[in-house]
Amino acid sequence: MKLLLAVIKQTQRQVVCVVRGCGLSSCAASGPSPLRAEVMVASSRELLQTVGSQVEVRTAFLSAQEEAAFLQELEPGLKKKRYEFDHWDDAIHGYRETERVRWGAACEEILNRVRTEAFADGRSVLGPVHVLDLDKTGYIKPHIDSVKFCGSTIAGLSLLSDCIMRLVKEDAPNEWLDLLLPRRSLYILRDQARYRFTHEILKDEESVFNGQRVPRQRRISVICRDLPV
Ligand code: OGA
Ligand code: MN
Repeated sequence: MKLLLAVIKQTQRQVVCVVRGCGLSSCAASGPSPLRAEVMVASSRELLQTVGSQVEVRTAFLSAQEEAAFLQELEPGLKKKRYEFDHWDDAIHGYRETERVRWGAACEEILNRVRTEAFADGRSVLGPVHVLDLDKTGYIKPHIDSVKFCGSTIAGLSLLSDCIMRLVKEDAPNEWLDLLLPRRSLYILRDQARYRFTHEILKDEESVFNGQRVPRQRRISVICRDLPV
């Protein structure tokens, strides 16, 4: 799956604009909150409207039971692998990963929900689902997924931890969006957000969303992609 990754460059930050969604798993622990915190901030209002419309974050997409079903299915295989820290040139640091084609009934049903949400227009979905387990100290450097191996849409579930995904315009690093990906949320990147912006998952020390610290724990993502056209 490393083939899918082409590392691009680092980022810069600027002003902030805000939108929609709801909160952190740390907030959810104290019961449902009437306040809906933001899940997306960007360098400008315009960017939020254009590229922001090609990005979705669905909070509480998974129930706690559904998250547990994924863990039950994935943990035995993941535990046999070691986290990789030593390849400094990799796009990902502190990770182990796998791909899975066949799933148990509970997970398959959830993945079908993801596919329906993300690939509704019937584009062909890549068979193997990518599972990426980031250590608490792990992170993903800015990159754009290879266009050779996947199409216009990337849809990912976040298990076990909140995190921040940063999108930065490939040829204009002052244009950026930060996405808050709460534990058990689904995110979808489409079109320009997928092709013209690098994406990255911030390391714990840098994990601050719109001024608010978002502690990173071990995080597993379950990612569905479509085939290139
Ligand atoms: C990747 C990637 C994001 C995530 O594996 O290419 O960008 O949510 N993963 O783990
Ligand atoms: Mn990627």
